[in-house]
Amino acid sequence: MENGKWKMENKIKLCIALDNPTKEENLKLANEIKEYAEDLWLKVGFRSYIRDGAEFINELKLMGYNIFLDLKLYDIPNTMADAAEEIAKLGVNMFNVHASAGSKAMKTVMDRLNKFEKRPLVLAVTALTSFSDEEFKKIYGDSIENRAKEFAKLSFEAGLDGVVCSAFESKMIKEITDKNFITLTPGIRPFGEDAGDQTRVADIDLAKAQNVDFIVVGRPVYKDKNPKAKVEKILNKIKENQ
Ligand code: C5P
Repeated sequence: MENGKWKMENKIKLCIALDNPTKEENLKLANEIKEYAEDLWLKVGFRSYIRDGAEFINELKLMGYNIFLDLKLYDIPNTMADAAEEIAKLGVNMFNVHASAGSKAMKTVMDRLNKFEKRPLVLAVTALTSFSDEEFKKIYGDSIENRAKEFAKLSFEAGLDGVVCSAFESKMIKEITDKNFITLTPGIRPFGEDAGDQTRVADIDLAKAQNVDFIVVGRPVYKDKNPKAKVEKILNKIKENQ
């Protein structure tokens, strides 16, 4: 299984969000930072996947990148497992589901994937960060904090590999699950760059202190004049004292 390898490394992994509006711009970025492909993960989301599909994933894989397919599956258990199986066949290294799809759905996904000799890592989204507390409570009947904890436990018990969460919650989630339960955190501003529309941003030092496994960085890299130099700087910072 994929997980054996990274757990030994015990180092933050850098995941770059390919959020440019066109395939050409995403490929340009991927080419610019190709030198570091082995150390990098690329996050492919709805927009790129719907438009550019499996062929785009293959192009990125051929460059040597690890791929995180961010499609946040949410459906009935069997449909989710069918989708997970197709995602595994694409050969991506990691994808995600919504924890709120429930225990049965997550277990069905894992049962299906565990039939593969080599399967992608599976993460659960606990609470979308776009929710206000009030809006969240209307839908889920509880505070974001309580429910995120519950969802993390539920995902762990269902056999998933980890969760997507805020960098501020990583340590707590590991405490209530397991230290090897993966945390992947968006909203990272490696060196305190402009937050944009993110509300609670964290830098690399905070991610380290919170034992985060994967940091997702979008704009601070793809909007930089020199994405390659920026990636190098982030990777060097990650290596410091580790
Ligand atoms: O540009 P920036 O670094 O803010 O990009 C963060 C990436 O992580 C975007 O692709 C965004 O959609 C994604 N994301 C997030 N918050 C979540 C889940 C995903 O920012 N809770």
